[in-house]
Amino acid sequence: MISFIYFILFIIFLYKWYFNATSKARKRLPPSPAKLPVIGNLFQLGLRPHRSLKELSERYGPLMMLHLGSVPALIVSSADAVREIVKNQDLIFSSRPKLSVMHRIVYGSKDIAFARYGDHWRQVRSIGVLQLLSNKRVQSYRHIREEETSLMIEKIRNSSSSSMSEVNLSNLLVSLTNGIISRVVLGRKYDGGEESENFELMLKEIGELLVTFNPGDYVPWLNWINRVSGFDARLEKVAKSFDEFLTRVVEEHRSRKQGNTDRDGSSDEVDFVDILLEIQRENSSSYPIETDTIKALIFDMFGAGTDTTYTALEWTMAELLRHPKIMEKLQNEVRSVAGSKLEVTEEDLEKNKMPYLKAVIKESLRLHPPFPLLLPRELTQDTTLMGYEVAAGTRVMINAWAIGRDPILWENPEEFHPERFLDSEIDFKGFNFEFIPFGVGRRGCPGITFAIGVDELALAKLMHKFNFATQKDLDMTEAPGHSVHVKFPLLVNPIPHLASN
Ligand code: HEM
Repeated sequence: MISFIYFILFIIFLYKWYFNATSKARKRLPPSPAKLPVIGNLFQLGLRPHRSLKELSERYGPLMMLHLGSVPALIVSSADAVREIVKNQDLIFSSRPKLSVMHRIVYGSKDIAFARYGDHWRQVRSIGVLQLLSNKRVQSYRHIREEETSLMIEKIRNSSSSSMSEVNLSNLLVSLTNGIISRVVLGRKYDGGEESENFELMLKEIGELLVTFNPGDYVPWLNWINRVSGFDARLEKVAKSFDEFLTRVVEEHRSRKQGNTDRDGSSDEVDFVDILLEIQRENSSSYPIETDTIKALIFDMFGAGTDTTYTALEWTMAELLRHPKIMEKLQNEVRSVAGSKLEVTEEDLEKNKMPYLKAVIKESLRLHPPFPLLLPRELTQDTTLMGYEVAAGTRVMINAWAIGRDPILWENPEEFHPERFLDSEIDFKGFNFEFIPFGVGRRGCPGITFAIGVDELALAKLMHKFNFATQKDLDMTEAPGHSVHVKFPLLVNPIPHLASN
């Protein structure tokens, strides 16, 4: 009898083994590293996931399946795989997963960046692309970029003339981009005073919550940890304060339109809130725009626009400080175009008059894309990608950082060598899959013209006005976070360049 039971168990084992083996063979899944119970591969991400994922992909291949808790995640680390997604399957790779912090802050993902693919996203994306971030609109804010960059130069000049001539350039770049985005989006800056302090504190708190590991996003039954740890309470508090702030901004704009009040210290130009309220009033689109959506879009412009734009500039300056010859070549270009003019203007940057400056910014974005893993996507249908089967609901992370350093695609990929972009057609608009700092396809960044407008002008002015002492041993450690910036602030010793001051 016992041997009969063993026999039956043996048959069951064989059957299970055969079934598993054949279903795995039938389903060719992307390779995966071994995982632990409950947390899956989360322990392998580390503080700088783009780096750990690059290392893993060198072992497991450019399409690799991880399990982040109970979330299956496809990691894409080659330009060929990105090409296959964008050219043949972009639609089903164009949704976003629900991330609890963002979902709460942006009114249930009513913004552009975190909305799921569908009618709402199409509506807000088209408002973003056609009304807020079009070339014409970006052009109309030229004077804001020129004024704010001049203000930054003035601040550097003032601090460099004092005895303590070390200047915290990182801080100045943050306030430059915050200032420009605040004026463009809200119509005025929030600097100085209690209101501005609160505004900055809220943005900081949201940033911190975003980088805090949130177990419930990966293992839903661990959601209780957020309640116990106080995370949920912090999130509620900041979401409420931010909502109160945005409600005030919207109401001020509404009553100004009705002629009830004057805007405090600002000009009469049209800002993004005015444009969004006008769209709401006209109700011209097929899809009425709610006030919560307007507030979510305002948040997006700060969330997606400030950190990235300043981070790109910060890395560019860090690389230039380490490479004095490249900095000198760039200064020569800028100074020869701007000549003895008092200020570089956007005209000086037109018609490719400063090709080296553009090459320097591209090279910095290749080595240091501010969102190294872009923003996460979610697959909406089962599919086959490069021979592997991937199931609907899988999270998709594209390692733009690894692709920008792929030795098959780039010669001496770790070297900062802007010349590689001179006489090259490679651009960051999403058509060259080896260079995708702004993402690709339908979900690619709509703020490229805005960001590059700020970064080019600010860099040109810095190069025109100052010489900087070299820092060959500058610490280039990356700070952990979604957008990756230099861990330690850039402290520089600017010396005014006499001929242009
Ligand atoms: C150097 C600066 C910037 C970089 C490197 C950058 C990069 C990116 C990346 C990688 C994405 C995700 C793309 C994808 O999933 O394929 C993105 C999305 C987005 N960016 Fe930017 N960005 C920058 C500046 C800006 C600015 C200035 C704005 C607006 C003022 C902006 C608005 C957005 C929005 C709204 C999205 C979401 C698009 C969608 O999901 O449909 N970005 N950006």
